[in-house]
Amino acid sequence: MKTKQVEQLILQALEHEKGGVEVYTAALQCVVNAQLKEEWERYLEQTRTHVSTLESVCREMKIDPQQDSPGREVVRGLGQSLVQAMDQARSGGEAAAAEIVACECVVFAETKDHLDWELLGKCAEQLEGPGAKALKRACEQIEDQEDEHLYHTRGWCRELWIQSLGMKAVLPPPEERQNTKTAMGAARAEQDADRERRSDARH
Ligand SMILES: [Fe+2]
Ligand SMILES: [Fe+2]
Repeated sequence: MKTKQVEQLILQALEHEKGGVEVYTAALQCVVNAQLKEEWERYLEQTRTHVSTLESVCREMKIDPQQDSPGREVVRGLGQSLVQAMDQARSGGEAAAAEIVACECVVFAETKDHLDWELLGKCAEQLEGPGAKALKRACEQIEDQEDEHLYHTRGWCRELWIQSLGMKAVLPPPEERQNTKTAMGAARAEQDADRERRSDARH
């Protein structure tokens, strides 16, 4: 294992979770659907916990959580641009359009978040010592939540877009009903939504 690169991943993940708090705060200004709002409020709370969990992982691993790096700056910039995109959409004055932009921004953010935790999980398997224990514990708590953040928001994003196009949308998306937590489950949920659309069109 390349220790420096593991450190880099942890610092990027921390920076990204911090940006995630800002992303959800901005997304909650754009959301219209009450159920999605509730969901994002929960994800915002979880994201706050992810920040503090990674800060304590840093302490356990003797990494300075404030330490900056070029990679970390890029992550920060990406987060800021997502917030900016949502502000811009909101100032456009079309609520339904801003909600879709917010969904897309959350999907962008959660794609990186999901990747970070997937990689952190792999690192935790390989590392040893007290820091590794803390990282393992964190992954056990958080990886599942990241699956939900990504797959469920992707479902909302797809169905809200479909609704905006004037087609039959399945809302809430099947990802909710099926409590989707895997890539395979997400593919199934998407198929089920299409099947529901087609059978409605035939009747
Ligand atoms: Fe997270
Ligand atoms: Fe997340």
